[in-house]
Amino acid sequence: MTIEAVGLAEAPVLDVDPYAMEMLRDPYPFQQALRDAGPVVFLKPHGVYAVGRHAEAKVVLADFERFITSGGIGLQDIRKPGDFRIPSRLLEIDPPDHTRVRAAVTKVLSPLVIRKWKEGFAEKAEALVDKLIDMREFDGVEHCAEAFVLQAFPSAVGVVLPRTETLAIGEMRFNQSGPKNDLYNEAMAKAQPYLAWFEQTVQRDAVLPGSIAEMLFKVEDTGELESGVASNIIRSFVGGGTDSTIAGIGFALHQLARNPAQWAKVHAEPAKVKAAFEEGIRHESPFQVTYRTTAGPTELAGIRLQGDTKIGVWLGAANRDPRQWDAPDHYDIDRPQLAGTHTAMGTGAHACIGQMIARGESEALLGALARRVRQVSLTAPATYRPINQMRTLDRLPLRVEPK
Ligand code: HEM
Repeated sequence: MTIEAVGLAEAPVLDVDPYAMEMLRDPYPFQQALRDAGPVVFLKPHGVYAVGRHAEAKVVLADFERFITSGGIGLQDIRKPGDFRIPSRLLEIDPPDHTRVRAAVTKVLSPLVIRKWKEGFAEKAEALVDKLIDMREFDGVEHCAEAFVLQAFPSAVGVVLPRTETLAIGEMRFNQSGPKNDLYNEAMAKAQPYLAWFEQTVQRDAVLPGSIAEMLFKVEDTGELESGVASNIIRSFVGGGTDSTIAGIGFALHQLARNPAQWAKVHAEPAKVKAAFEEGIRHESPFQVTYRTTAGPTELAGIRLQGDTKIGVWLGAANRDPRQWDAPDHYDIDRPQLAGTHTAMGTGAHACIGQMIARGESEALLGALARRVRQVSLTAPATYRPINQMRTLDRLPLRVEPK
């Protein structure tokens, strides 16, 4: 890794490729190099800026006027020829348009709707934990986190999401947000047969009656949302809410299995599963990075930034910044000020709109496990699935001992 000062943008230059396979498998050396290089750096292999410290990550995410999302939240600027993909009509638009759309969607996600979901999540979690206890040994990704989210989340939103198709589309989306490397090409090819299915799944005639998906189409009928926006938002829900929640639940389970003393705490006091999940997504952020584009020439932490340039906000690095966290590499469910301080769900105007859904799902599943399982342990080391924008587990071999 070489770090040199250049006059170009007065930012330190970091010549490391965070998307190289060895970095995706183990992102922590890159995260540290990024934080150590400065408050904002120029990432030479991709010609973009990058921030990895907690303070600057928060500034960039909060300042939607200087750091816009309409260039896309991936590495490529989706407004430029050759890099176009359909933008999210919520995440990849800027205020004031964003403010209007977000208000309309927030109305649909009412407290009553969320309460009903939570009841459904609890029932599904109990039924799944019955099965897992019978199995005793299972994969914490496929049989637990994935099985639960793929059952609970689509029925809450009002779409039908079969496993193979949904996982292939998710992998495509999160690889698409990085460079056009082998992972990108493989994921695009794997998802190709399912693109038409996905397009159809988010249309009005495919969504479940009485669901929030249907409610979004009804808001479109009133004119509060433009025509075409409802299906785009359902697409953003599925894209933003499936793989991320599977990853987050997987991380919490993995760390609890590795730390019997932490499991003992959630078993004794199941309400602590809330903190176990928050600490899980701080410790290994599912969305490793999100991008903004500088609206014009500007400065950050005393460093001059050129206009119309991408800036990566490395959420994973910020969530392990020792300037913010004591012993950041340790998983500790008693860590103070977790939710609201970590950046795993974003912050500011675009902060995760589905965070209560993800929290509801994780509390239901981890809570049911915590109450009914005395001990959880790894039967083999966990493995990770490399994806450009995301950190997620591939396999999590677990054994549980019931109460
Ligand atoms: C552990 C689970 C989750 C994680 C880690 C997560 C993470 C994030 C992050 C980091 C952002 C901000 C992105 C940015 O500022 O560029 C975001 C926004 C968003 N998330 Fe989530 N998310 C999760 C679950 C969900 C769920 C369940 C949904 C389903 C509705 C969802 C839907 C969205 C949407 C639509 C946005 C865009 C909001 C806006 O632009 O106003 N997410 N999420």
